[in-house]
Amino acid sequence: MTSLKNEKTLKKLKMPELKKMCQSDKKKYKGFSGLNKEDLIKHINKCNNKIKVTNNLKFIDLFAGTGAFTLALEKNNNFECVFTNDMMECSKNIYELNNPKHEFTLKDLNTINVSDIPPHNLLCGGFPCQPFSIAGEKKGFDDKRSNVFWKIIEILEKHKPEIIILENVKNLKSHDKGNTYKTIENKLKNTGYHIKTCILDTNKITKIPQHRERIYIIGFRDKDKYDNFDFNFQEQKQGKIYDMLEKNVDDKYYYTDRFKVFEEIENGITKNITENVLYQYRRFYVRENKSNCCPTLTANMGAGGHNVPLLKDDKGIRKLTPRECFNLQGFPIDYKLPDVCDSALYKLAGNAVSVPVVSLIVSKLEDII
Ligand SMILES: C[S@@+](CC[C@H](N)C(=O)[O-])C[C@H]1O[C@@H](n2cnc3c(N)ncnc32)[C@H](O)[C@@H]1O
Repeated sequence: MTSLKNEKTLKKLKMPELKKMCQSDKKKYKGFSGLNKEDLIKHINKCNNKIKVTNNLKFIDLFAGTGAFTLALEKNNNFECVFTNDMMECSKNIYELNNPKHEFTLKDLNTINVSDIPPHNLLCGGFPCQPFSIAGEKKGFDDKRSNVFWKIIEILEKHKPEIIILENVKNLKSHDKGNTYKTIENKLKNTGYHIKTCILDTNKITKIPQHRERIYIIGFRDKDKYDNFDFNFQEQKQGKIYDMLEKNVDDKYYYTDRFKVFEEIENGITKNITENVLYQYRRFYVRENKSNCCPTLTANMGAGGHNVPLLKDDKGIRKLTPRECFNLQGFPIDYKLPDVCDSALYKLAGNAVSVPVVSLIVSKLEDII
């Protein structure tokens, strides 16, 4: 049971960390207050053992990146991750830092034998989107990176999980006049799944102010479960960008006249972030984002490419920090960021699935499984 802490791990935690763990799930750890460390550890073990008898749904987190799927699913005690894979070292770093008890397989999925993947009830994965995105070269299935889709099919044929959740860029649906999506949907149907698809925008259905439209493909082997699932999520009032920001940001994120483009940036960025406005540097000019919402974070934003969100605060003009990008993807503030270069962190954040969106899907699944 990967979500459970064994005695040894619990002993390594400090008292405030143990208490925080109990406070985050008061129902599960009822009666924890007032205990000393030794008794608290015994109590946590007792509560966890009670949960052991329940039948958790095992899931695999493919193309795990930040581990957002694991985070959103394991917040719910009905789900347990049994296999995690990505081929990026920084993904392993962030995943293991936040999930020290999980095993992470750092490999190209295409090189993994499907029999080495444990049986599971749910497969999730935000499969690589470059072949399908407008920003990419629109090569679709001809691009060798899209081959992993066929690997997903191989896994589904072998393990037949009851449910699948796939996520991708919005224009997967329109790529190659809809043929790419049609191929994906038909193949999933022929593999035994009833498919529902929806484009969800983080900004609309969660309080996170990031405009992020992504396609979610949910598949069920069971027709009744399929019939009972829907993508109807209540619209939420838009959150404020400045509530997502850090205080005391390091100087390295600020622009100074050492930058070639400083003048353009300084002239173009006039409104303070207190007005809830972000800007984007578009190669040679700055554009105000009129929606009072963060534009879609992208994997390449840290590499100085287009789409770098910029803001003006009382100290100057700067870009979003990696932590702020994680905030704008709905990661909790205690989600740990590894000690890797900023561009790796921006890439992880820009690639991630928004945590609260997955949580919403999970809460719907919980009602029907
Ligand atoms: C769009 S990101 C998924 C992000 C993830 N869902 C999250 O929330 O952080 C795609 C991920 O697939 C990984 N990837 C691409 N091709 C892969 C392959 N052949 N085998 C394993 N991982 C791969 C990339 O390293 C990247 O982290």
